Amino acid sequence: MLEQFEKVGKDALAELEEVTDLTALEDYRIKYLGRKGQIIQMLSQIGKLPPEQKPRAGQLANKTKKEVAAAFELLKKTLLQSQEQTGELIDITLPGIPVDIGKTHVIMQTLSELLEIFGRMGFAVAYGPEVEDEWHNFEALNINADHPARDPFDCFYIDDNTLLRSHTSPVQIRVMETTKPPIRIIAPGRVYRPDTVDATHMYMFHQLEALVVDEDVSMVDMKTAIEQFIHAFFGPDTKWRFRPSFFPFTEPSAEVDLLLADKSGKENWVEMGGCGMVDPNVFDAVGIDNEKYTGWAFGFGVERLAMRKYGITDIRLLFENDLRFLEQF
Ligand code: PHE
Repeated sequence: MLEQFEKVGKDALAELEEVTDLTALEDYRIKYLGRKGQIIQMLSQIGKLPPEQKPRAGQLANKTKKEVAAAFELLKKTLLQSQEQTGELIDITLPGIPVDIGKTHVIMQTLSELLEIFGRMGFAVAYGPEVEDEWHNFEALNINADHPARDPFDCFYIDDNTLLRSHTSPVQIRVMETTKPPIRIIAPGRVYRPDTVDATHMYMFHQLEALVVDEDVSMVDMKTAIEQFIHAFFGPDTKWRFRPSFFPFTEPSAEVDLLLADKSGKENWVEMGGCGMVDPNVFDAVGIDNEKYTGWAFGFGVERLAMRKYGITDIRLLFENDLRFLEQF
């Protein structure tokens, strides 16, 4: 029994030499000095020895325990110290872990800028639902049942009377149904058309609608507002033009084109959207006196404005959410 005690002590001290870090040291503590550890087990066996052996065995066991415990404490202190010195616990001089910070999507940045500009020009903001009925999306806008724009191939229908709005003009109707003139609003929002996706077409995009209704509102007012906007958004030297066009809900109607240089410096006329004087039939549909009031409206493509401003040549980039693209704005 005494030899066995001696052996445990020797083994324990020898094994401690192999321990080089705090994790291994904890394993070591459990193996030898823990409640079920070899040294403690050894002590508990003393009681079972014949009485004449007990004193010597007790002495030896206690001596062994003390030696091992002392060697253990010493090594623990050394390891802790060196860990502090090499700064393994906490090194406040290390650079922090970088945190990626998100930012506003370029389309949302563009929309904020547009709302800003029109806010300065005295326009309030109005919103309408993306799921619309035929009355607001077509009928009240003087688009009759056999107009090609109502073709199911040109719209996302949900049922016979419900569709994803194909333009933001229904917001004009919703505002006029609930507000008495004078009206001066812009309505930003998403619109949906089942177009084949390519560099300039997407099945969902954003429009910015404008509507002004008051007494004596003229086409000159419309022209002035559009020019102020273009100069604020693209710069004061930007050239633009009206091109005669047709919309069922405006008369006369025009297309707004911008003269802008592409990457190679070549200038092109680019269509931004439609506009015109509110058709008297539209006023009739919403119960506004078309003898007393006149108005104008436009609907511009927000992606087109953003693409032209930032030189983006493919609309799909705006929706693929590739960080290498998004981070540039
Ligand atoms: N709603 C038309 C379109 O989507 C644009 C437009 C708006 C034209 C307002 C005239 C007046 O093409």
